Amino acid sequence: MNDPNGLVYFDGEYHLFYQYNPHAAVWGPISWGHAVSRDLIHWENLPVALGPDKWGQAWSGSVVVDWRNSSGLGPKGTPPMVAVYTAHNREFKAAGLTQPEGQHLAYSTDRGRTWVKYAGNPVLPNPGDERNFRDPKVAWHAASHQWVMALAEGDHSVFYGSPDLKNWRYLSAFGKGIGGHGGTWECPDLFPLTVRESGETKWVLVQSLNAGGPNGGSGVQYFIGDFDGTHFTLDPQFAAAVRRLGGVWLDWGRDDYAVVSWSDVPASDGRRIAIGWMANWDYAAKVPTERWRGAMTVPRTLALHKTPAGFRLFVNPVREMETLRGTPHVVSARRVDGRLALALDRDTVSQSDMLLRFDRPAGPVRFGLIFSNARGEEFRVGYDGATGRYFSDRRKAGDPAFSDRFAAGVHSAPRDATTVQMKLRLLMDAASMELFADEGRTVMTETFFPSQKFDRVSLFSEGGRAQFRGAVIYPMNRIWSAQDRQPVDMPSHDADMKTKRG
Ligand code: FRU
Repeated sequence: MNDPNGLVYFDGEYHLFYQYNPHAAVWGPISWGHAVSRDLIHWENLPVALGPDKWGQAWSGSVVVDWRNSSGLGPKGTPPMVAVYTAHNREFKAAGLTQPEGQHLAYSTDRGRTWVKYAGNPVLPNPGDERNFRDPKVAWHAASHQWVMALAEGDHSVFYGSPDLKNWRYLSAFGKGIGGHGGTWECPDLFPLTVRESGETKWVLVQSLNAGGPNGGSGVQYFIGDFDGTHFTLDPQFAAAVRRLGGVWLDWGRDDYAVVSWSDVPASDGRRIAIGWMANWDYAAKVPTERWRGAMTVPRTLALHKTPAGFRLFVNPVREMETLRGTPHVVSARRVDGRLALALDRDTVSQSDMLLRFDRPAGPVRFGLIFSNARGEEFRVGYDGATGRYFSDRRKAGDPAFSDRFAAGVHSAPRDATTVQMKLRLLMDAASMELFADEGRTVMTETFFPSQKFDRVSLFSEGGRAQFRGAVIYPMNRIWSAQDRQPVDMPSHDADMKTKRG
């Protein structure tokens, strides 16, 4: 799989569609895979929802519930679910098209179980010369009484408006000349959020781009501003930050891409929930797995805060993740000087939710955690007092020979928070780490492929002593698949590592 698509909540179910090749564990004739969940944790895989047709492959896009049946695609009284996606045709010239990508509709009137492609496709053919014209994310904009589509077009994004999802009118463009990062823009997502401190509403544009990510390859930046139904304009302080930093990033790790959010989450819930593809185009096709390739991050909430540096998104795992926690292991505070093993059982090391606290070091001390196995493979995550940055080091986390880009260097992220106490939350799995530092102000998602599970973990410090303030470490319970009520296979032996992770 690659990108999450069509994230929508309808009739008690969260839908997660995804870019999927049904024929092989590598990117190929792309279709929309489909899964549903009632709690964002237990997912049931359903049959493929959309496949290639004469217009091309089914590339990324979104799904909305057309509550008022503005499209007329629902039988009377039934709001249809409408998918708006990019059809991508490599042989577009042979098919009589001038461009490879256009926007198409498909709809479902049976809770997303079956989909019909709209006979009037494409609803938005490419009007220009830029080949890259894709990944529509659609939402109802009540103030201007229209559907608004955010769409990536080369090195910027564009917005279109429609009364009925079928007829689209160009509104505006965003991204040129702002000093943000270049690359090919993909998968935009535009939505409003309430600022926690002031209660005011601001608009967020989450924007994937490849290449140009903060640690190389694919990355996701975001912008905060206002949207008036036609134009998205940057908040002045945020615009200055974009110019100064060359981009404000949603996730600094190498493995969180194509992040988009769920539409139609009930107002009574009120959360903006997003998910990303846990990979990077630099090496996605080559990672050393066999029966599977590509996975999603955990679902995360995006909260908008006003900080001294301006508006920033804080990103944290959805609270539903906590339902998987087992009996906690409490680690008491201690000084760390060198390496100090923690007494955890093997399974907890590679499948856990860890809440750790440290004091920010006064000098150039590096500290953090080392996950390792009997083969001498190790993964390090922590903070570097010399640079003021969090880091992730997977250079020795397994044989990196599959790609010279996977483990070329240490990945890092600036710490935004200024408090002395540093809070780190780590979601560890057999082949991934998701770091949420300082209540979600700095996030890093990283994959790794050890030849054997990491089954030991140590605290460490280098260049001086670190003050560790204690930890609560929860083993994560197995997820039972909704289909068969059997535990999903988790890798436990060397061979399993490569083959079983459905
Ligand atoms: C992003 C992306 C999208 C495209 C899809 C194709 O990862 O390149 O722009 O629609 O993947 O699978």
